[in-house]
Amino acid sequence: MKALLLTALVPLLALTMSAPGPVESHVATMQKAASLSIKFKVVQAGASPQDYSLSLSRDLKLRLESPAKLWVSDGKTLSVYDKAKKLYTQGEATKPTLLKLLQNEPTWAWSAFLDPEFAKSITSAKPGEEVNQKGVILQEIKISKATGAVTQMFDAVAGVFRGGTFTKDNVQYFVQVTEIKVTDKALADTVFAWVPPADAKLDDGTVVAMSYADVLPVFQQYCGRCHGGGRAQKNLNTTNYDALMSSNTVRPGDSARSILVNAMRTGAMPRGGSMPKAEIDKIAKWVDDGAKP
Ligand code: HEC
Repeated sequence: MKALLLTALVPLLALTMSAPGPVESHVATMQKAASLSIKFKVVQAGASPQDYSLSLSRDLKLRLESPAKLWVSDGKTLSVYDKAKKLYTQGEATKPTLLKLLQNEPTWAWSAFLDPEFAKSITSAKPGEEVNQKGVILQEIKISKATGAVTQMFDAVAGVFRGGTFTKDNVQYFVQVTEIKVTDKALADTVFAWVPPADAKLDDGTVVAMSYADVLPVFQQYCGRCHGGGRAQKNLNTTNYDALMSSNTVRPGDSARSILVNAMRTGAMPRGGSMPKAEIDKIAKWVDDGAKP
């Protein structure tokens, strides 16, 4: 019995004492690499998988794409593009900025590419099950760190973490790597060149203000019948900017004190009907933005 226990313990001890652990191997591989390119899916139970891609090269070059956003750093400038708003911002690409971006789940493990101190954020790493993922043997590693517990799947042959699970707002997510390339060559600069997508605008703080064109369809749908075109009840024409502004029912920058907005908020208007709150909020935002033409 005693002998059996010993033989079972010896390989385990040898493993923990001589060979570097998965975390150390992963950090060493990441630190040695000149570039990294990964394609992965983030899967939430019951939702369709979201495609991500990440490319990293030395001297602060990064390209990260999620379904909602695109981050591109050419080593000097970091451009962040919001796909829904079609707006991008630009700032200096510094190591702390890029590191902070990568340290978010689901890319946390690969922040080791930029961070030689990566292992310091980990308080414990315990081996779990071994799984065969499409022919690749992966060892599950249960990791505790300051920003929450995660599991990472360790590929001992390549010496890297390739995916795992994390929890955010009580929802569990799976990160499934479909492709990972760790090389000793830099990636082409074209990968990290910022080319604004079609229709993209630089967000300089002015383009976000709404204009009358944004709210005109709402006025036409809910008010125009009685306050527009041929009719203008109470001399209020909502479907012509100058006429609307001359009615004194709009106080630019102050929706709370605008008769027009209050008429909708109280439900008095549209007379004999109703409109969704989101449409009222839209008009209120236009007024608060300065009621621009
Ligand atoms: C079915 C017709 C009708 C529709 C639709 C309608 N209104 Fe009116 N509205 C009136 C009438 C009639 C008056 C004048 C009598 C009154 O004040 O109740 C009026 C008055 C107003 C006034 C008061 C004007 C003032 O100077 O006192 C405001 C503001 C107003 N409407 C805003 C709106 C807005 C905004 C919409 C669309 C969201 C809208 N109305 C849709 C019929 C309508």
